[in-house]
Amino acid sequence: MVPPSSVEAAAPVLPRPVAAPRVPGYLDQTYWWAYVHPKAVHFFEREWLVNLILFGNYKRLCDAALAELGEPVQGRTLQLACVYGDLTPRLRARLAADARLDVVDVLPIQLRNLAAKLPRDERVALLEGDSSALACPDASYDQVLLFFLLHEQPEHVRRGTLAEAMRVVKPGGKVVIVDYHRPRAAHPLRPLMRQVFKHLEPYAMDLWDHCVLDFLPAGMRPASVDKRTWFGGLYQKTVLVR
Ligand SMILES: C[S@@+](CC[C@H](N)C(=O)[O-])C[C@H]1O[C@@H](n2cnc3c(N)ncnc32)[C@H](O)[C@@H]1O
Repeated sequence: MVPPSSVEAAAPVLPRPVAAPRVPGYLDQTYWWAYVHPKAVHFFEREWLVNLILFGNYKRLCDAALAELGEPVQGRTLQLACVYGDLTPRLRARLAADARLDVVDVLPIQLRNLAAKLPRDERVALLEGDSSALACPDASYDQVLLFFLLHEQPEHVRRGTLAEAMRVVKPGGKVVIVDYHRPRAAHPLRPLMRQVFKHLEPYAMDLWDHCVLDFLPAGMRPASVDKRTWFGGLYQKTVLVR
């Protein structure tokens, strides 16, 4: 495991340390157009565009994730990966006075983009790290949020991310997952989404074909699982309690 470098919210980003995590090949090769290229960040950091990509469901899905984390958000929360739009600023605004939010992302450009959206707040830390090899101790967070991360990861990385999320959350704590899900058979957007996944998001079909639980390590069973879907089943929120 690699110790992460830290980017204080709204502070200048530190230079990458020698031990910075390697940028995974799937980001450079498959998702360069969405997250890696500076023009991509500039292009996609528009809430209306993210909302369009989610067929108008961005706010609803953010609301569902935030409601699951509580208001105010207490304790230590880990957000695995930055997201475009206002999800993290909204999460920060709900933190209790003594709460903490750590956001881990493997791309410094994404951490810098997030830092620019957040006011200075010593409760928030932006950390460079890989979601499938976290540098934090076991049971160190009260809750972990994964917002549209798993569908972008190849299966072995997704398995690592889920194993790490379950490792770092405390017993009784929640892992909140919002992501794609298999829509109902007659869903009018099914053919379009198949083409989008085929050409742009090659790992996403895994979340149509499998339940999130299928990617947990063998023998690891959450204390409880709560799943809800929206928009004809195209999106899910799955909450695993450790
Ligand atoms: C959360 S996902 C998708 C979010 C959603 N599409 C959005 O932005 O609205 C995108 C982020 O995941 C990050 N990411 C992908 N793989 C990662 C990994 N293995 N570890 C940490 N961050 C990762 C990318 O760098 C990117 O910032």
